[in-house]
Amino acid sequence: MSAKYFRTNGHLLVCQGPNCQARGSALLHRALWNHLERESLAYYKRGGTLRLTESGCLGSCSFGPSLCVYRAAPGVGLEEAWYAAVDFPLAARIAQAVHEQGPLPAEHQYGPE
Ligand code: FES
Repeated sequence: MSAKYFRTNGHLLVCQGPNCQARGSALLHRALWNHLERESLAYYKRGGTLRLTESGCLGSCSFGPSLCVYRAAPGVGLEEAWYAAVDFPLAARIAQAVHEQGPLPAEHQYGPE
């Protein structure tokens, strides 16, 4: 079997656990998906570099919607960042930073530094 692999700048995951869904994470995922499509940031668009996936619980249930991002960073290896209380403007800024391989927004981050 030969499957096509798309190299990306990073992977964003939006929690769809019950607590995050009660705080609007389904709408957040849909809005972010539409944004990646519209701005051609999704990996399957020309020039796009991002993957976006729904995830299960990310462990910050009382502070959702939660989002995490993984990307390869020079000198770091695999960089990860975890966000709580994410709204659409913040999610769009995170996506743009990953696309541009720039620094990730610091606000609302939790977990490993
Ligand atoms: S339900 Fe989203 S972090 Fe647990």
